[in-house]
Amino acid sequence: MASIKQLEQQLKKLSLELSKHEIEFHQARQYLQSILENSDDMIFATDVDGTLLSLSKGGERVLGYRSEEITGSFIKQFAVNPQEFEKLIRKFQDEGSPVRFELPFRHKDGHTVYCDVSLISLTNTNGQNMGVVGICRDMTSWKQLQEHLIRVDRLAEIGRIAAGIVHEINNPLAVISEIAGWTKVMVEDAKRLSKKAKKELTKSVNDIMEQTRRCRAVTHQLLGFSRDSAPEKTDVNLDELIRQTITFLQPELKYKDVEIVYNFETTPIHVSTDQKMLEQVLVNLVTNAIHAITDKPDGKGRIEFQIKEGDGHVEVAISDNGPGIKEEDREKIFNLFFTTKPSGIGTGLGLPICQNIMKKLGGEITFETEVGIGTTFRILIPSE
Ligand SMILES: Nc1ncnc2c1ncn2[C@@H]1O[C@H](COP(=O)(O)OP(=O)(O)OP(=O)(O)O)[C@@H](O)[C@H]1O
Ligand SMILES: [Mg+2]
Repeated sequence: MASIKQLEQQLKKLSLELSKHEIEFHQARQYLQSILENSDDMIFATDVDGTLLSLSKGGERVLGYRSEEITGSFIKQFAVNPQEFEKLIRKFQDEGSPVRFELPFRHKDGHTVYCDVSLISLTNTNGQNMGVVGICRDMTSWKQLQEHLIRVDRLAEIGRIAAGIVHEINNPLAVISEIAGWTKVMVEDAKRLSKKAKKELTKSVNDIMEQTRRCRAVTHQLLGFSRDSAPEKTDVNLDELIRQTITFLQPELKYKDVEIVYNFETTPIHVSTDQKMLEQVLVNLVTNAIHAITDKPDGKGRIEFQIKEGDGHVEVAISDNGPGIKEEDREKIFNLFFTTKPSGIGTGLGLPICQNIMKKLGGEITFETEVGIGTTFRILIPSE
């Protein structure tokens, strides 16, 4: 029989071992705690039914909820597509090996967070399945960057195609409009044509000229895209350029009841920029404003220009009292070929071209709009 002394020694040994394990356990716990608190990734643990047991600080950021708010809920309900998430978890539990997939989650404020998800099985000491641990990396910015690059690539491709088409089409267009011009003169001078025939022929020739002018306007717009040359900066008098733009667009304004307001400083504001490019932006923005106030059912249309000098830039604001831009259209208006106008009137090239040019000029373009009140587009041009 072991003596009391031996028992005492054994007890001491056991107690030493216990405190060693306790220290190790404490360290492991702290280690896990610090991962859960400091990792940017969302780390969650669920039981076998998918009920959320714990959520890391990163998870609170990804989902927008505090951990205590949502522990006890099913993790699947935070996925954009809960059924799909449940299916993936079930498949993982059946097969047992770690899995990795991409899954969108819904943040508390409604926006989507794209995550790269890895699932690991949570087992007890007997190897029994106790639940799942998920590690989810927020890939939203990466995805947005990827989409942006695809868009830029697509724009560059369109630019290249456009350059080819414009090159092929411009010459025939010039020939058509020249011949239409001669025909018009010949019809006017023709002695043996009846008045009715003359009228009909003149109308047809005018139609040809108008449609050719439209085609040339579109090819000119596309050139703005494909032109790769760097901006040629000269001293530009902005007051003068805006007045010139209105003169240029006079045919569009001819039969419309529009008030043009120049809200300028007494001394004209100058800026060093590419005049041709800026002119193209102004023509597009003013054309849009004219379209917006055309068919205004209640009263007079109004387009107002304002030029302001800011810190390191000059701002030109173009405001109209048109119908404004609908909420659902606002994020699309700079997309290539987005238009709400009937075919033959709009192609959806104007604003993406303006944005492209303003980028080339080192500036930017923004807008404010209110349905039923009107829209203001602002362009910021760097002053140096
Ligand atoms: N001032 C504005 N007021 C209301 N809506 C506008 C205004 N400017 C732009 N929009 C909206 O944005 C859309 C896109 O404009 P954008 O200039 O790119 O193309 P578009 O005018 O339709 O065609 P394009 O300019 O190629 O002739 C328009 O169809 C219109 O719905
Ligand atoms: Mg337009």
